[in-house]
Amino acid sequence: MSSPRVIAIDGPAGSGKSTIARALADHLGLEYLDTGAMYRAVAFAALRARIDPGEAAAVVAVAQAMDLVLDRTSCVVDGVDATEAIRGAEVTAAVSTVAAVAEVRKELVERQRAWVAERGGGVVEGRDIGSVVFPDARLKVYLTASPEVRARRRAGEIGDADVEWVAADIRRRDDADSGRVASPLVAADGSVTIDTSDLGIDEVVAVIVGLL
Ligand code: DC
Repeated sequence: MSSPRVIAIDGPAGSGKSTIARALADHLGLEYLDTGAMYRAVAFAALRARIDPGEAAAVVAVAQAMDLVLDRTSCVVDGVDATEAIRGAEVTAAVSTVAAVAEVRKELVERQRAWVAERGGGVVEGRDIGSVVFPDARLKVYLTASPEVRARRRAGEIGDADVEWVAADIRRRDDADSGRVASPLVAADGSVTIDTSDLGIDEVVAVIVGLL
């Protein structure tokens, strides 16, 4: 699939993906898609239906039936505002299990491609955007940061969270996301890796714009 107007931003939790992808989309006047929010929405819908996230077949059915309205400020799942809940501890604990199910990924990848086809392009962030969803993206960026910086960023987003606890949670999700069989987190072929540990948002955006 040729996707000349897609900019793929991948990387682990706390690497700065969402912040950078949004700022880049604003800078370029492009739309922005947070695919992590889509996996979180499936976890939310499963939990709401009282389905165990480990019950793959039931989770797949939920994903396929899910009505998802996602934009930059809100996430509505089957008519229910899930904007805050998808960032909560319950969904965060379940999302890696749900994201490891190949049929769930297939469903969401189709929706991601349809989203881009409707808009003619955009900045798309996730874990497998450059490797699987849009291998022909115009530019593929893989963001990283040191584990300490990532934990501090995530703890800051959550509020008063304990940095040690967040660091352990990030490690658990890194292992799950990198170790799974279906579309593991990897730096895609042809991607450019940027370490954001010591860079500000504007600096990272400037580097990416320079690459374009
Ligand atoms: O970026 P995030 O933390 O909101 O992502 C939530 C989870 O979804 C994360 O554990 C990995 C998974 N994910 C994925 O497997 N593929 C994507 N394209 C985006 C997210």
